[in-house]
Amino acid sequence: MNKNIEMRIIDYLFKHLSPNRFDHSYNVARFAIEIASKNNVSIFKTKIAGLLHDCAKAMTDNEILSLFKKRKTFKYFNEISVFSPQLLHSFAGEIIAKKEFKIQDKDILNAIKYHTFGKKNMGILEKLIFVSDYVSDNRKGKQIIQIRNLAKKNLNEAFFAVLAKKIEYVIRSGSWLCPQTIDVWNWYVSKKDN
Ligand SMILES: [Fe+2]
Ligand SMILES: [Fe+2]
Repeated sequence: MNKNIEMRIIDYLFKHLSPNRFDHSYNVARFAIEIASKNNVSIFKTKIAGLLHDCAKAMTDNEILSLFKKRKTFKYFNEISVFSPQLLHSFAGEIIAKKEFKIQDKDILNAIKYHTFGKKNMGILEKLIFVSDYVSDNRKGKQIIQIRNLAKKNLNEAFFAVLAKKIEYVIRSGSWLCPQTIDVWNWYVSKKDN
């Protein structure tokens, strides 16, 4: 991976995302970089993962689902495809990162892939992007600011807060809650005091 990749990514995002989504991606990368060194994560990897995390966000449901036609799927894939296919944009993003930008770094790929649901036993870069996606500067509100400040001090606590807020939001809005999210929540609760 060379530095030139940043320019190619920005060019791709500019062409494929709405101006708001482009801004959001930039802001996620910027906030993630702000807290990366404190968490001993490579700034370069953080920048690439932050910029690319929503690279598939503008794809239609059909475009996203077609990416998985010849690929091995995963637990709950069928349920997600029916109830909330847009959630698959993070998995589609990983495919684009590999295909368009030849990214092979597992930390970067997983940070993109799991920024929607999270996963059990996440690495630091994965948590960093998961949290930054939720608290980046373009998102407003008192609770967001509180979690943003928490993220600057303690990434793990902020991660827990974001996971809880995401679940709360889905329940309050009466939407389908992906079982993967419940699995992830239960896994972290079981590890919390150990
Ligand atoms: Fe996303
Ligand atoms: Fe995002």
